[in-house]
Amino acid sequence: MLNIAVRAARNAGDLILRSSNNVSQLTVNRKSQYDFVSEVDFKAEQEIIKIIRNAYPDHAFLAEESGEHEGNDYVWVIDPLDGTTNFLHGFPQYAVSIALKVKGKLQLGVIYDPTRDELFTAERGGGAMLNNRRIRVSRQNHLEPALLGTGFPFKSDEYLDAYLALFKPLCVATSGIRRAGAAALDLAYVACGRLDGFWEIGLKEWDMAAGILLIQEAGGVCTDFSFNDQYLQSGNLITANPKMHQLMYKTIEPHIDDKIK
Ligand code: IPD
Ligand code: CA
Ligand code: CA
Repeated sequence: MLNIAVRAARNAGDLILRSSNNVSQLTVNRKSQYDFVSEVDFKAEQEIIKIIRNAYPDHAFLAEESGEHEGNDYVWVIDPLDGTTNFLHGFPQYAVSIALKVKGKLQLGVIYDPTRDELFTAERGGGAMLNNRRIRVSRQNHLEPALLGTGFPFKSDEYLDAYLALFKPLCVATSGIRRAGAAALDLAYVACGRLDGFWEIGLKEWDMAAGILLIQEAGGVCTDFSFNDQYLQSGNLITANPKMHQLMYKTIEPHIDDKIK
């Protein structure tokens, strides 16, 4: 199944990369005021579903652009192009994200960055890899030298104040914060230690599923803002190596708005 997921991610990534040369020619629609979708998102998703369905006709899907497709207990969670805004601006930070859940439990995760030909993979119990090399979360256990990743709640201003209340103490306490614009890649970067930690409010399951398994298999921890494991449901995520997670959580704890608990 991992081989099929990798083939699907690579094919979709190649399709995305080929289209990156003529983004101005693409049909682009708005999902909401600040949220765009292009014909490449749809084509990449169709390609992924076609490849997986050929191999496993009974499996189910939860895909960003086409929603739920019914099937058995095997559910493929797909973000065909994570970082659409970046892609449409020629900003080379986007990826394909594919995860497999079996009876509700994450089993496989694949994130493919076509611009760097970087393939992140994880299997439950089998560790996490970047281009077939084992990866681990960072060992950083102090906030001061830490580099964190985040995502802004740009789709609406409903959670902006709650977000900024967390941003300020983390910004003051650490060496740097990056908002690179593709949550799946941010999570892959936590898994391989390029980022020491990450947090975001209001993610969707397809943004997170593959990245969560990568981080867990790379020795990291993931929680929501109540220190619980409801992040896939709420979309509110804080993740890092265990010590860094504790330090980040302690730093933001007095500032966590009830809205995001
Ligand atoms: C978005 C990106 C972004 C994150 C948003 C996501 P999309 O995904 O991952 O970094 O901040 O919450 O929706 O729409 O480009 O697939
Ligand atoms: Ca996404
Ligand atoms: Ca997407």
